[in-house]
Amino acid sequence: MTLRDHKYLPYGRQCLDDDDIQAVVDVLQGDWLTTGPTIQKFEDKLRQTVKSDYVVSCSSGTAALHLAYMALDIGAGDRVIVPAISFVATANAAVYCGADILFTDVDPDTGLMRAQDVMALIESLSPEERQSIVAITPVNLTGEVAEIEAISIIAQQYGWRMIVDSCHALGTTYLSRDGKNLAVGDCHFSDMEVFSFHPVKTIAMGEGGAVTTNDQMLYDRLCLLRNHGIERNAEKWISAPKSEIENPPPWVYEMQILGYNYRQSDIHCALGLSQLNKLSEFTDHRRRLVARYDQSLMGLSAYVKPIEPTRGCGAVRHLYVVLIDFKALGVSRLDFIRDLSSRNVGSQVHYIPIYAHPFYREKYGPQTRCGAEEYYARTLSLPLHVNMSLDDVDDVIAQISDIITGIVPA
Ligand SMILES: Cc1ncc(COP(=O)(O)O)c(C=O)c1O
Repeated sequence: MTLRDHKYLPYGRQCLDDDDIQAVVDVLQGDWLTTGPTIQKFEDKLRQTVKSDYVVSCSSGTAALHLAYMALDIGAGDRVIVPAISFVATANAAVYCGADILFTDVDPDTGLMRAQDVMALIESLSPEERQSIVAITPVNLTGEVAEIEAISIIAQQYGWRMIVDSCHALGTTYLSRDGKNLAVGDCHFSDMEVFSFHPVKTIAMGEGGAVTTNDQMLYDRLCLLRNHGIERNAEKWISAPKSEIENPPPWVYEMQILGYNYRQSDIHCALGLSQLNKLSEFTDHRRRLVARYDQSLMGLSAYVKPIEPTRGCGAVRHLYVVLIDFKALGVSRLDFIRDLSSRNVGSQVHYIPIYAHPFYREKYGPQTRCGAEEYYARTLSLPLHVNMSLDDVDDVIAQISDIITGIVPA
């Protein structure tokens, strides 16, 4: 088989049309570059999309996580549970607040946190450790859904707050036990959910993120924290004299708590809004690509397996992950990736278990979670983005098939 003759297919990439570019140009030609009316429009659209009561846009998914942990007042002496498999930001943002991290294991075949992983972690802890847990953050990895409802029941039992990291899962729907079809981001079982709009995600904003919630107190706090802790609304001032509250001088604002500049800009929100308007188009196309991959991979099932879809979940995959039995194939993952790359097929590994990074190894000592290790050893993300055609998927599969036939002749 010859090398693919068209250009390199990255594992993920934004899909921008002229109307996205025009939306940004319109803002650049207008009056507001930073905090203007497009932010509200983007937040309103996202709120309708995920069916939450409130949305707070911010400068990245990492900022969204940090805002969410801060809104819960998480700090030194607190512990937060996160899955061993995720992007490091899920844990890091709690460490920014001074908290410690407890890593659960994950399903070796999906990388998702399960209720049984949470229970196993609890059983392994001392009573003091258990008491210091204040929050849990399951991750909707790849766009599939973790056992959110079952985990929320455990969280309630133990009095923990729950944030769902849905950075991969914009547009995904899932079924509750009582048969309701729910949208990821609607916070049906959680205090807050967070999203990222980094270019490889389902919609692109450049850098961008958001927190969703149904809790007005959390919403107010998130808004404060996003903007230096500054309150401009005189009705919410806490120490100004009555005369000032009744007749607020135009320059006065109160900084009530220590916040950050995590605001989003009108420029980014123009792009985000334009992209959000195409979410159902993007969703349909991503699902078509995933169905084609799933179907085509059946012929390679001895060595390459797609991630099993979560039951009742209408996933919009951000990543197309396959589990490859590199041991049985007798090839290293690195050689496999290099071979794919030489055939113009990009791929990536999501993720190294967070506890294995030097920062966390130094902080907590060596750790192992069997499911996470098993998942990590086999995982590979193949190209998945809206610019791709079904022929591109066929090409990727043909290249993988060719590599495998070269190693283990049929
Ligand atoms: C699961 C997860 N959480 C959080 C983040 C952080 O998002 P951002 O890159 O927008 O800061 C990412 C980004 O890759 C992610 O994949």
